[in-house]
Amino acid sequence: MTMIDPAIVPQRTLYTGAKLPAVGMGTFGSDHADADAVSAAVAGAIRVGYRSFDCAACYGNEDMIGQVFADAFAEGVVKREDLFIASKVWNDMHGDGDVLIACAKTLKDLKLDYLDMYYVHWPFPNYHAPHCDVDSRNPDSKPFTVERFMKTWRQMERLVDMGLTKHIGMSNMTIPKLEAVLPLCRIKPAAIEMELHPCFQQPELFEYCQKQGIEVVGFCPIGSPERPERDKMPEDIADIELPELKAIAEAHGVHPAVICIKWAVQRGVSPIPFSLKEKNYTMNLKCVTEDPLTDAEMETIRSLDKNNRLIKGHVFLWEGAKDWHDLWDEDGVIVK
Ligand SMILES: NC(=O)c1ccc[n+]([C@@H]2O[C@H](COP(=O)([O-])OP(=O)(O)OC[C@H]3O[C@@H](n4cnc5c(N)ncnc54)[C@H](OP(=O)(O)O)[C@@H]3O)[C@@H](O)[C@H]2O)c1
Repeated sequence: MTMIDPAIVPQRTLYTGAKLPAVGMGTFGSDHADADAVSAAVAGAIRVGYRSFDCAACYGNEDMIGQVFADAFAEGVVKREDLFIASKVWNDMHGDGDVLIACAKTLKDLKLDYLDMYYVHWPFPNYHAPHCDVDSRNPDSKPFTVERFMKTWRQMERLVDMGLTKHIGMSNMTIPKLEAVLPLCRIKPAAIEMELHPCFQQPELFEYCQKQGIEVVGFCPIGSPERPERDKMPEDIADIELPELKAIAEAHGVHPAVICIKWAVQRGVSPIPFSLKEKNYTMNLKCVTEDPLTDAEMETIRSLDKNNRLIKGHVFLWEGAKDWHDLWDEDGVIVK
């Protein structure tokens, strides 16, 4: 086992002054890796030097990951205050009082007294069942509204007041939605999670968040090659198969996945790659401590953006919505 000293991993500073390691470990098994496999990878990742973990209630594995954290604390591998642990409220828990219940359940499962970050996983109360397919629709699904979102956010703010989470964040947002809700927030989001990989760079949203002092956490940083079947469309492009990316990987003697992580961190994103394999998750952390990409390589990767969103969100569509593009306010206005 190669151990990476967490002190040499680049750190981000959130607006509160808290530190976030620039690379975290994802924990979504993508409907194929079970809770045993994911929690075993988390146990290994702590031991190789990961200090940031991206959890969520809907990943269905927080109780097992919680045991991994508890064992690591008990064995003296790491202290609670050395970890940055994030979780997310799932879409079926946006109702009055539900956010507190969801957070309490997550804390119980993760066996923690507090979270470092708690995200609103999606900005609307639209639920889908685990393992569902692309045509699955919930008849109760509703479009985003500022009123509904702020009802959820007020509950998130109270979690900070109560000390149950140090920070709160949002995920799967758009600029129009942020413009509408940020002025209303008593406690500003400290981070926003969004899909980011070479073929989907979201430059406007990325820059918007940076200007607002909000940390950008990038999910699916490798282009999620093993994402659930419902998220695979014939038009999707595989980032790690792009010839330009492969050539850069060859020049550095690493897998193209590793180049995606280096690029993200050098760009200023905090990626949260997932891997079940010790060799891969070790490299995903180690790679940001050595052998940086050149300016020319960074520019080549910048030019690979193809606006290829992978997690399109079909299963969250409400009655009357046209198609998945309606979730992303592509014309600059919130689609209702
Ligand atoms: N907020 C949201 O709505 C949202 C949505 C999606 C995901 N997320 C979060 O983002 C995390 C990451 O996204 P993701 O898991 O979908 O995709 P990802 O990190 O882009 O890709 C993971 C895949 O890449 C492979 N991989 C990882 N490192 C590698 C390496 N060094 N060399 C070769 N292959 C490598 C893994 O295979 P092996 O296991 O074989 O290494 C795995 O199949 C999730 O786990 C979750 O925590 C959040």
